[in-house]
Amino acid sequence: MLEDRLALFPVTTAVQEDGQIAVAGLSLQALAETHGTPLYIFDAATLKTHLASYRQTLAAHYPGPSAITYAGKAFLCLAMAQWVEHQGLWLDCTGTSELYLAEQAALARRRTLVHGVNKSPADLQAALQRAAVIVVDNLLELERLAALVASAAPGSSLPALWLRLRPGLAVDTHAYAQTARSDSKFGLSPDETLQAVRFCLAQALPLEGLHFHLGSQYRDPAPLATALQVTLDLAAACQDETGWHPAVLSPGGGWGVPYHEDDLPQPSIAAYVALVAQTLAQGCQQRNLPLPRLQLEPGRSLVAQAGVAVYRLGAVKHTPQRRWLLLDGGIADNPRPALYHTRYTALPVQDPLRPPSGPAWLAGPYCQSGDVLIEDLPMPQVQPGELIALPVSGAYHLALGSNYNGALRPAVLCWQAAAPTSSSAAKQPATCWPATSAFPKCNGINSLHRAAVRYNHPYDVSIPSFAPLLYHHPPAPRAVGGQCPGPAPGPG
Ligand SMILES: Cc1ncc(COP(=O)(O)O)c(C=O)c1O
Repeated sequence: MLEDRLALFPVTTAVQEDGQIAVAGLSLQALAETHGTPLYIFDAATLKTHLASYRQTLAAHYPGPSAITYAGKAFLCLAMAQWVEHQGLWLDCTGTSELYLAEQAALARRRTLVHGVNKSPADLQAALQRAAVIVVDNLLELERLAALVASAAPGSSLPALWLRLRPGLAVDTHAYAQTARSDSKFGLSPDETLQAVRFCLAQALPLEGLHFHLGSQYRDPAPLATALQVTLDLAAACQDETGWHPAVLSPGGGWGVPYHEDDLPQPSIAAYVALVAQTLAQGCQQRNLPLPRLQLEPGRSLVAQAGVAVYRLGAVKHTPQRRWLLLDGGIADNPRPALYHTRYTALPVQDPLRPPSGPAWLAGPYCQSGDVLIEDLPMPQVQPGELIALPVSGAYHLALGSNYNGALRPAVLCWQAAAPTSSSAAKQPATCWPATSAFPKCNGINSLHRAAVRYNHPYDVSIPSFAPLLYHHPPAPRAVGGQCPGPAPGPG
């Protein structure tokens, strides 16, 4: 059972000879000592593994062109946007701030896509200047865009438009993660989509594609096949009526991941992508539609397993029914258990496979009874001061986090494992990612300290302070044991 728990961690995870969990060849204990807790570690090898599954399956099963957009809403920071650029992926940005971040990461405009359910005038303006694609959510937004396009300087290059369809279908997931039911706040109904196509053609707007996103964290891809049929019926109707057909079709993202050992095995990315690719190819053939570019939009299934959250246990409390393990992070860095009742799991960093002594409730330090990360989890005896690691922490934790109770944003480290060379791998330092050589445009991000993305400002990032915070980490104001540590040293 505990080995299964370990399997939820990043692909480079190992238990070292000294009994400590290591990721990318680095001991979590050592990283926590240097950078403090809560601490988030991202493993580049895990990202690479999941991205390879997407790419290989698309290449094997889709006869037309394809592309992958990373859904930045899952987790976005400068290093992540640089990784997206380095991999040649598209980036989905929501709003002006994320577009600014993409620009700071030197993300190519031709792979920048903008989503948003109620884009502000500033969001629309920024998207027009910076994006390659705007995904239109509603008819009023389309009218606003048409007005902005009409007043744009002659010769300005305009983003292509995709229409976000609401196919009226539900995937099997938490109600808060469903996004395509007929009464959802997202997107256009099929009738509205047809109206939008007519409007775009009448106004000579650069309409390029159709998009839908059924929801998030589902494991049964069957509703996707139905949604593709609905979308292709609509595309065929458009073609019959207007001659227009989509050059791009994006069925969004949403593929699920296991958070708990009981959720294993990992849902297969390959099976999901193959189903989408084959359904789309056959559906187009049946309706005499040219094959569109198939553009997938994964977030969680790329990044969730890559992330580990490391907490320090502050106190153990026994109540009549429960053993409470009180950690130094919780709802402020991971609100998902409170929002979605996600069932997480955890291991002590030292000797993770020691046998459980009974159930434990792992809670954070914040003033909410709902600040509980994990309920009723078999755990060994653990002592105050020990480190506890939560796997599958890479998606929708920090992105949804807050400064509740004045909580500071945890440090985030992204690691590229050193090339594994048998037994020396654990001792060889991993390189902090991104390395300067791989990201020549990011001068200065060349040491552990600078590449470590620290959200250590007590209040949320605003555009003027975003880049400086990421580039020049000010001394961390977080008090650890009554002291305020300065910036972390480089790797030596
Ligand atoms: C439009 C859109 N695309 C893609 C995603 C990514 O979903 P996931 O991270 O579950 O893959 C989301 C998430 O909500 C979304 O709203």
